[in-house]
Amino acid sequence: MKKRVVVLISGRGSNMISLIEAARDPEYPCEIVGVISNKAGAAGLDYAAAHGIRTIVISHKSYDSREAFDHALNEYVVNLGADLIACAGFMRVLTPAIIKPWLGRMVNIHPSLLPDYPGLNTHARALADGATDAGCTVHFVTPEVDGGPIIAQAKVKVLEGDTPETLAARVLKQEHQLYPFALAAVADGAVQFKMPVDAPWMLSA
Ligand code: GRF
Repeated sequence: MKKRVVVLISGRGSNMISLIEAARDPEYPCEIVGVISNKAGAAGLDYAAAHGIRTIVISHKSYDSREAFDHALNEYVVNLGADLIACAGFMRVLTPAIIKPWLGRMVNIHPSLLPDYPGLNTHARALADGATDAGCTVHFVTPEVDGGPIIAQAKVKVLEGDTPETLAARVLKQEHQLYPFALAAVADGAVQFKMPVDAPWMLSA
């Protein structure tokens, strides 16, 4: 049985497109059953809708707190019958309200070789440091932002004269290869999440 995946986006959605494309292969272990954006104008929504995928916009601005938004988001994902959540350029810091129920079943792609450069502006920071390698990471989502267990990484060389834009474009090409591969590895059980029982966030409500 294919795993039912809901993709979370906030914008362009090129990683979402790579997952939708991969899922067209009958052998791929996932089907994309919904795309949820927290931004109404997200370009990726049009692509998903044009491919017959259910799209939903939930504006975070309609909620009083991050937790209230996350509870609503969780409800939508559950109603879509999801087995897995794939964050793909979803520009919201999530709280345990949605992370805990989906631990081990929620993944994210980040444009750096984690644990280096979590957070924003990864390419500019890598260049400023004189890094020689850059890349991208797919990881399980835990309450530590960009800090969850790593599933897979792809590396690119930093080239002479690279700008944040040229580096981002080269890394993005790798992202489009890596994400379908890593999601499939989770979906078919080749990679499994091990509960970090001693993580401080496991102890809080
Ligand atoms: C990607 O670089 C992804 O790694 C990061 O945000 C960007 C989203 O791009 N989390 P897109 O919306 O998938 O094109």
